[in-house]
Amino acid sequence: MVTSEKVLQILRDVKDPEIGISIVDLGMVRAVEVQGNTVNVNIALTMPNCPLSATIRKDVTKAVSGMEGVDKVEVELSSMTEKERNQVTRVLSARPSAVQTNVQETWRSRGFGIDRLPKGKIGRVIAVTSGKGGVGKSLVTALLAVELRRHGFSVGILDADLTGSSIAKIFGVRNGPTQTPSGVEPPVSQTGIKLVSMNLLMGRDDAAVIWRGPMINSAIRQLYADLEWGDLDYLLADLPPGTSDAPLTVFQSLPLDGVLIVSSPQDLAVMIVAKAINMAKIMKAPIIGLIENMSHLTCPDCASKIELFGRSKGREASSAANIEFLGSIAVNPLVSKLCDDGKIEEYESLEFASIAERVIEKTRQLKVPQELKHAERAAERESRR
Ligand SMILES: Nc1ncnc2c1ncn2[C@@H]1O[C@H](COP(=O)(O)OP(=O)(O)O)[C@@H](O)[C@H]1O
Ligand SMILES: [Mg+2]
Repeated sequence: MVTSEKVLQILRDVKDPEIGISIVDLGMVRAVEVQGNTVNVNIALTMPNCPLSATIRKDVTKAVSGMEGVDKVEVELSSMTEKERNQVTRVLSARPSAVQTNVQETWRSRGFGIDRLPKGKIGRVIAVTSGKGGVGKSLVTALLAVELRRHGFSVGILDADLTGSSIAKIFGVRNGPTQTPSGVEPPVSQTGIKLVSMNLLMGRDDAAVIWRGPMINSAIRQLYADLEWGDLDYLLADLPPGTSDAPLTVFQSLPLDGVLIVSSPQDLAVMIVAKAINMAKIMKAPIIGLIENMSHLTCPDCASKIELFGRSKGREASSAANIEFLGSIAVNPLVSKLCDDGKIEEYESLEFASIAERVIEKTRQLKVPQELKHAERAAERESRR
């Protein structure tokens, strides 16, 4: 006879297609009801409108209908509450190895190697990432570069978001890299930030580049290794959102010292952030912390703080994932205007200055042993021959 316990047992083998962990362990199975030969299953999706819901439905139906004595399977889909999602974040944080296997399999199937490029003359390589697009990742990369520059550091930005490069535009840079006697040099912004965006190389602003994994892999490696970046204290890599090929490649091939995660309050699906956090953990890149963008608006009349997307969740999400919450950035029409006009270097903000100071403090603590630096430089010289 079919019982709900037996159904649950079978469902243990059904994995979330993206995370690769059993849907039972993730707490996605809300209810199982057995009426004669009919089984009703309620599955709570981690996100409403989860793009993989059809796959989950199919996998659940297939697993349960294969059971003896089952004639009909009905799968009802619902979505998780915030509390349930926080629980998933905890499960993921506790079990990176399960996710790791899943991601590594993805790589292998795409034919990626895992050799990291040498550090060369670059002090710190920091990646800026997010679970999804449009949360202000490029803005945070740009503001951080500007602040680092104000502290007197030499800074470069590698815009690795090949399908949505916007760094050059934010800085008002239009010229591409130039050939010099010492090599191909990236263009330089008004305040001296070296930067490269894919659209500079393609010669058009709106190039929505559709690239396949291996092409992205080699483009990013070339932008990093073949450009003459010179001596840099910091190289910031603006990653494409999510866990697609390009962030994987960067994580995998750039010698990262740390990762900054940007989220918006609408990522209430803490899950979206959780995926980005997990990817960094898997790559063994230290997470510097989380920055919440567009968390509030300051009333121009009374200067009160309006949380237009509801109570800020950045701090909560950070503590659930056991990472540092670096601070939040307000929505500010001046910011988007300066971005549009290519004048981000004119922007001054106390809230971001203190975030940047914390980043500097934390990345200083990451000590790079001198011997290692020498060894890496020697290896690089060797590889250039
Ligand atoms: N705090 C903010 N205030 C006002 N506009 C913002 C803010 N953050 C981002 N934007 C605007 O939102 C859009 C998306 O930001 P962007 O940094 O390009 O996101 P991402 O790189 O994550 O896709 C841009 O037009 C940017 O100018
Ligand atoms: Mg961007």
